[in-house]
Amino acid sequence: MTFPDDFIENVREQNDILDVVSSYVSVTKKGRNYMGLCPFHLEKTPSFCVYHSTNSFYCFGCGVGGDVITFVMLAEKLQYHDAVEFLANKVGIDMPKYRKNDNFLDKKTIFAINRLSAKFFFSCLMNCENRSALNYLLSRGLFKETIVHFGLGYSKSDGYSLVNFLKKSGFSDEKIEKANLGVKTKNNFLHDRFINRIMFPIIDVKGNVIGFGARSLDNKMPKYLNTAETIVFNKSENLFALNFAKNQEYFILTEGYMDAVSLYQLGFKSAIASLGTSLTLGQAKLISRYTNKIYVCYDSDTAGKSATERAVEILSKENLDVKIIEIKDAKDPDEFVKVNKEKSALKFKFLIKNSKSSIEFKISELEKKFDVNKIEEKVGFLKEVSKIISKIYDPVERDVYSSKICSKYGVLKSAFDLKIKKNLQKNSKMMFSDLKKNQKFARSGILCIEEFLISCIIKNNDLMVYFDDFSGKDFSDKITSELFIKIRALLASGKTVNFRSLSEGFNQKKIGEISRILNLNSDSDVPKSKFLKYISIFKQKKEINNFKLSENLEKNKILKFLDKLKNSKV
Ligand code: CTP
Ligand code: MN
Repeated sequence: MTFPDDFIENVREQNDILDVVSSYVSVTKKGRNYMGLCPFHLEKTPSFCVYHSTNSFYCFGCGVGGDVITFVMLAEKLQYHDAVEFLANKVGIDMPKYRKNDNFLDKKTIFAINRLSAKFFFSCLMNCENRSALNYLLSRGLFKETIVHFGLGYSKSDGYSLVNFLKKSGFSDEKIEKANLGVKTKNNFLHDRFINRIMFPIIDVKGNVIGFGARSLDNKMPKYLNTAETIVFNKSENLFALNFAKNQEYFILTEGYMDAVSLYQLGFKSAIASLGTSLTLGQAKLISRYTNKIYVCYDSDTAGKSATERAVEILSKENLDVKIIEIKDAKDPDEFVKVNKEKSALKFKFLIKNSKSSIEFKISELEKKFDVNKIEEKVGFLKEVSKIISKIYDPVERDVYSSKICSKYGVLKSAFDLKIKKNLQKNSKMMFSDLKKNQKFARSGILCIEEFLISCIIKNNDLMVYFDDFSGKDFSDKITSELFIKIRALLASGKTVNFRSLSEGFNQKKIGEISRILNLNSDSDVPKSKFLKYISIFKQKKEINNFKLSENLEKNKILKFLDKLKNSKV
């Protein structure tokens, strides 16, 4: 779904970049432009520049840049569409009416039902004659402000209050069922899905109530009941409290809702929790959109430990800097806060400070599994440790861990290093064969050429005439191929090709790539000779590819082809 061009232009024009930026950081006039401290990286001297005349910004320190929409995407951590909506709302421009899109309207209705229900649950908790739910939360040490902050609530035990309330508010049985807030009995009677439970609203980063986690108050199983999958809720793609933590520098990932709430109350505003499933790659990706540092703080039992190992693996796949906080003398962070009373904040800070790297954590878990006083087990243990250490990319870091292990376990360093070296050889053999498999993804010369060509077309759309015989498939890389297809489509529909129209619909990482490609060519005019040279190489590559496609060509055709290659001027 793309916005009409004039709508976007209107949003950009009415949101002066200087006003928008100024509400986040202060900038002062320097010459024709404005400079300030970059809000997107830590710095002491200003390198963040606002170009008022072109309504754009660029940071000379960290290299981010773009227009007012990009700025809001980064500052508010929003996707393109949401950033546009944010800015439109800010200046009171109506969002364009979408083509009738049932799914979209349905989602809006479910969000409305969820929000209204959250308010209803909250007022039940606060105003119910039966104060047992509120007393329960207070007895667990929550302050009223915390309850209000998270919008916690209570679903009554009669089994129909919410459904009746929603119906009176004008929502149909069908929609209430779709939100999974009501369920039908065999005789088609709609009753509440959540009965006598503490309600934890789950809110996405845009502030929509997408679902609920609900804790039983009467030992009724299951202890926690979550919203089942709906068109707006998928428990493996969302995280509890991410809406509050999203602007923190790092996150603390816990297993339970109460853990996140307790840590928040204690002052650790970066606490988040998964939604009753083990961590998924989707959640790790979501996390990496907001931070690159995460502390895993799971339960202290064996289940928690193995869940930690799994979470560390998944988070590392997203290149996150992962640390492990180990809770001592309590089963989970919430209990830790409770048993340590007024000392808990200080003690938790200490735990953060002493958190382990994933390597340290893995080694310490191994230590528990082996009895190193027995020779054989010690050998087995060291073999496993050497495998872990061999996976470290940085040689110095590898050596630090090796030295530590050798001195701790009285092993000759040279012997251990030899073992590591062998593992490394094995690993690199494996990596090499992986690399071969993925060769097409490796950054090659041709990719640079493709990127250069794309940047030329973006700067000068007329150059597209040189690409009549090409299609997206002729580009070897996903991003260049996608961009080529997009440029052609934009031009075909008479639209302008620029950073904005190209980035629309891409995620933040790709937008970064696009802006990199766009800036490859720093000259304002495309150097024609370089362009012609590159396009001829690119054409040749296409010919070679086509040639390979038909290997059973006659001999003279092959010779002719080779001749042509030799004669072409590159
Ligand atoms: N969970 C769930 N369904 C269950 C049990 C647990 O979805 N039947 C999820 C919930 O998100 C819960 C988390 O797993 O917060 C951790 O469960 P558990 O450790 O059993 O509960 P606590 O969070 O410690 O809750 P409490 O302190 O209220 O007992
Ligand atoms: Mn608990």
